[in-house]
Amino acid sequence: MEQEQTKRIVLGITGGIAAYKAAELLRLLMKQGIEVQVAMTEAACHFITPATMQGLSGKPVFAGQWEAGAANGMAHINLSRAADAIVIAPATADFIAKLAHGLADDLLSALCLARNCPLLVAPAMNREMWLNAATQRNIAQLLADGVRVLGPDSGVQACGEEGMGRMLEAEDLARDIAAFFQPKPFTGKKILITAGPTYEAIDAVRGITNRSSGKMGYAIAQAALELGAEVVLVSGPTALARPRGAQVVDVVSAAQMFGAVKQHAGDCDVFIGVAAVADYRVAQPSEQKIKKSSDALTLELLPNPDILAYVANLPDPPFCVGFAAESENLMEYAEQKRRAKKLPLLVGNLAQRAIGSDDNELVLFDGSGSHVLPRAGKLALARQLMQHITQRYEGAQK
Ligand code: CTP
Repeated sequence: MEQEQTKRIVLGITGGIAAYKAAELLRLLMKQGIEVQVAMTEAACHFITPATMQGLSGKPVFAGQWEAGAANGMAHINLSRAADAIVIAPATADFIAKLAHGLADDLLSALCLARNCPLLVAPAMNREMWLNAATQRNIAQLLADGVRVLGPDSGVQACGEEGMGRMLEAEDLARDIAAFFQPKPFTGKKILITAGPTYEAIDAVRGITNRSSGKMGYAIAQAALELGAEVVLVSGPTALARPRGAQVVDVVSAAQMFGAVKQHAGDCDVFIGVAAVADYRVAQPSEQKIKKSSDALTLELLPNPDILAYVANLPDPPFCVGFAAESENLMEYAEQKRRAKKLPLLVGNLAQRAIGSDDNELVLFDGSGSHVLPRAGKLALARQLMQHITQRYEGAQK
């Protein structure tokens, strides 16, 4: 995450089994350069010890209302004044009820009430507790009060039941919190992204595809969401988790991808073609499995429509970003492609270094030349790329 100045968070932990995840969350937040002060309710201390949180944060933990931690005895005021946000993770049903009613009978609820900064809560509870009308009323009240509610997620719960109510994983929370601090230049804007491979059927069980994993496109969708955009992700077959908050349109073939893109291209502000679209499809795929014989088999291939070129040539096109995966002569071929497709921005990478990997290295080509984004994780690169797109997009609007 690129941050102008260090952000400070009070991480409030309340008494639920998911409190164990708070240790990992603390670690991830600190890794992102966020300064964290931990405050725990008494009940939370039964699930995870203040010593653990103190050891990880390197700071004394506030765990009770009456301790002499604050010089002036005003911990509830001091702590909230120093913070850029308060994050309650996990937030139990009981604590959420307290927040909804403005109760302040322990340090953590008091500092929430005394705060002058944003409050984010990550609910964690049994599914019946979550679905209970009282909890739903309280959550609706928090939302109406401007509190940001992160999750919950659904799945197997500590009690053995399955359903909605489990706290988001630490990684998701850390990502949401980092995103919360980022400026949102794409609020109210729609970004359309294609990702993954396409699959062109030969017969009922065989097809032509490629080794694209979809990781780069999905990371870009995540980065675009973090900047406030409405994201439509048209995805070929992948095994990746969907970016939370994106509208994902699943497709298989290039023709289906083209159809989905046509539906959304008209009102999108930015189009990013990351998909490795098959350049050809089989002229006449067989409905039944083709049986082998000793004869040679010839497949007739027809060219697929170029989706990116179609969007870039719309009468009032969105800001179009293309990708080029080359196996050689990246600098030369990529710039040629950018000019040929008339794109304001083209992202080049070497196929053999990118495909399937969690890392990548990108070269951005635009009217002013080329710019290298050195090797890094795909999400980190996606965030840098989105910063670049933001600048170029805003420049193009002027
Ligand atoms: N693309 C597309 N539709 C296609 C083929 C490509 O939208 N039918 C998009 C890709 O998503 C990518 C860009 O075009 O953003 C570059 O694709 P690429 O296959 O590298 O370029 P081609 O022009 O097809 O050239 P070649 O395959 O010969 O390298």
